Amino acid sequence: MHPPELADVLSSEPALLAAALAVGAADVPGWSEAERIVAAEAPALRHRRAVHKALTEAARDGLDPLGDAFCRLRTPETRRHDGATYTPPPIIASMVDWAASQSPPVRIVDPGAGSGRFAVAAGRRFGRSELIAVESDPIAAIICRANLALAGLAERSRVIAGNYLYEDVGGGDGKTLYLGNPPYVRHHQIPQGWKEWLALTARSHDLDASRLAGLHVHFFLATAHRARAGDEGAFVTSSEWLDTNYGRLVRELLLGLLGGESIHVIEPTTAAFDDASVTATITCFSVGRAPGAIRMRRIGSVSELGSLDGGIPVPRASLAEASRWSPLTRRHQGRPADYIELGEICRVRRGAVTGQNSTWVVRPGEADLPDEVLYPCITRAREIFDAGESLSRTDHLKLVVDLPRDLEGFEEDDYRRIRRFLAQARKNGAHDGYIARTRPKWYSVGLREPAPILATYMARRPPAFTRNVAGARNINIAHGLYPRFELTEPVIRRLVAALSEGVTVADGRTYSGGLTKFEPREMERLPIPNPLEAEVHA
Ligand SMILES: C[S@@+](CC[C@H](N)C(=O)[O-])C[C@H]1O[C@@H](n2cnc3c(N)ncnc32)[C@H](O)[C@@H]1O
Repeated sequence: MHPPELADVLSSEPALLAAALAVGAADVPGWSEAERIVAAEAPALRHRRAVHKALTEAARDGLDPLGDAFCRLRTPETRRHDGATYTPPPIIASMVDWAASQSPPVRIVDPGAGSGRFAVAAGRRFGRSELIAVESDPIAAIICRANLALAGLAERSRVIAGNYLYEDVGGGDGKTLYLGNPPYVRHHQIPQGWKEWLALTARSHDLDASRLAGLHVHFFLATAHRARAGDEGAFVTSSEWLDTNYGRLVRELLLGLLGGESIHVIEPTTAAFDDASVTATITCFSVGRAPGAIRMRRIGSVSELGSLDGGIPVPRASLAEASRWSPLTRRHQGRPADYIELGEICRVRRGAVTGQNSTWVVRPGEADLPDEVLYPCITRAREIFDAGESLSRTDHLKLVVDLPRDLEGFEEDDYRRIRRFLAQARKNGAHDGYIARTRPKWYSVGLREPAPILATYMARRPPAFTRNVAGARNINIAHGLYPRFELTEPVIRRLVAALSEGVTVADGRTYSGGLTKFEPREMERLPIPNPLEAEVHA
């Protein structure tokens, strides 16, 4: 049975339950009354053997078809109400890798386990640890049981279908590792009793809690409250606690009881989770180790997450006095007072992606096309390195064919030449690539206007910046810097000089092999002496 057919079978919650029971959900102990009631309603499963086989194979490949089906079947509103957003595998992998670099735990607690993605991944990595998954939704809890059984982890697993704030997850000797994605639920959906629990429990640790706190704050406190010195954990949550008043409780916990070790903010612009636009932060903590500093890092997307060992240590004193922590996750703390970030005066934009350079990038004289659709263009980083302080000519550059969306306006002869070119382009498959298919017209590359400053962004050396006096366009091997407001020539010159002198490879992200890369947003964060200052003082 292939995955699409599996999706057909898992087309309702009862069918999902039937499948979960068929693969051994009952083998994981600790059933609650609520789970028994919903399980009793599960129908007989169609294609039982084939479903079993398909689910076993998917589990072996690290997939979670039961969890995926659950997310598909529940409406986004219901899942929002429960804070049920399941974690993408790369985030789980980074967190489990981090945990594996510490000493092995006796037990692993997955609070708000959903379909058990963390419990399963951690159970696979730590061959002996007891696994305790806590999940309040009985159907999700049964799916979690099924996934633990499918992974061969039933014997050392326990699922508690209940409220993480109140349940006794069972401590004991030895280290507990807390690993998970606590639910994101806003305060107005949190029951009164839970708010009271938050206030009272915080008070028992001489801390204040806000009634506006989201549920992830409750989970941090519940963990701090029951954890013991030597326990460790990593949670991925919404980033809100970094900066809100109600998040102060989490910040104080990390500076005290919970022993914050590192904080990794995944840029708010990227949706770290497929189906919810949340801003994500991963927090690693080491209970009982009052931190002298917490490592902080901000990354552009989940794909850059990698190891959780990185980050710049931010001293405890700075953290304690800051009312918002997300500014501290930015690099270049302590820059001189007269410095600004490049992004304050320039937007940095990636060049256009042609989708097939062999068709759209041509040498002068190579394509029989009207001049007006041929744009001199930076197509290799070397052209910027060679240009030095300013790019003053374009006759050595290749040309990019950029046709307007509407081809009707051309003279008869030009139109014929374009048609001939496009027929050949089609033969080369230029109309059929992913990029071409996502353009309004496949043949219209859509170059940006010439950027006043051009920059390389990936090399084994610092990026090069050049004034684009010649007005060349650029494809995506270079970034274009576009002033947010009109800058005079001397200001642009000073800006280019400051960038050329001041930016080092240490400002970018270095990949294995020594390649350093600057995404547009990272380049916007480069600190530079304010080029407008000299203007003011002149
Ligand atoms: C953000 S989801 C994470 C699911 C899973 N751990 C993952 O990362 O894929 C949070 C889960 O917590 C559950 N949940 C919500 N409130 C809870 C509570 N008070 N106690 C236990 N689980 C809860 C939700 O049903 C949901 O499955």
